[in-house]
Amino acid sequence: MLASGRGSNLQSLVQAFPAGSPLASVVLVVSDQPQALALQRAVEAAVPALHIPFPKGGRAQFEQSLQQVLLKQHIDLVLLAGFMRLLSAQFVAQWPHRILNIHPSLLPQFPGLHAQRQALAAGATVSGCTVHFVDAGMDTGPIVAQAQVPIWPGDTEESLAERILQQEHRLYPQAVRQVLAGLGTITP
Ligand code: GRF
Repeated sequence: MLASGRGSNLQSLVQAFPAGSPLASVVLVVSDQPQALALQRAVEAAVPALHIPFPKGGRAQFEQSLQQVLLKQHIDLVLLAGFMRLLSAQFVAQWPHRILNIHPSLLPQFPGLHAQRQALAAGATVSGCTVHFVDAGMDTGPIVAQAQVPIWPGDTEESLAERILQQEHRLYPQAVRQVLAGLGTITP
């Protein structure tokens, strides 16, 4: 898993796929942020946690280190959860249909930063979350699963984010199971 921040999705995935579970296990957490709560949560769950620096203009360097680690650990699936960096087309091409991300809107609506704020500003009455395969774009890859969440009058960015997050914690493990079930048949 790759995460840059709080790591609540990480937590839900670590609980859904603990070490030794027959279908899959979260075996490594990587963060570009040394202080990320996500790394701390991984350590508390006894999942190996690694900081890989992402220096200014150093995406190639980050991706080279990441690629080495992923291959060494025989990783099958890379899950992004609040990972605040774009991966290059070259990197993504090495992992066709092997990288997933979760985004707090019903894509293709409201991609990018502050998706909940965008939904409120647009006057939407429904939003939600999306798990999708990652390509080199910003929240643009093929959609795996979505969950809808109502927007209530008086919602704030925070109240909406919280309601969506509850669905994220349910949807992401479900989408991972779905992808793992079909993994043998996916052709890049
Ligand atoms: C989530 O809302 C996720 O959809 C978005 O970033 C947030 C990460 O939250 N990509 P957390 O770090 O998993 O708590």
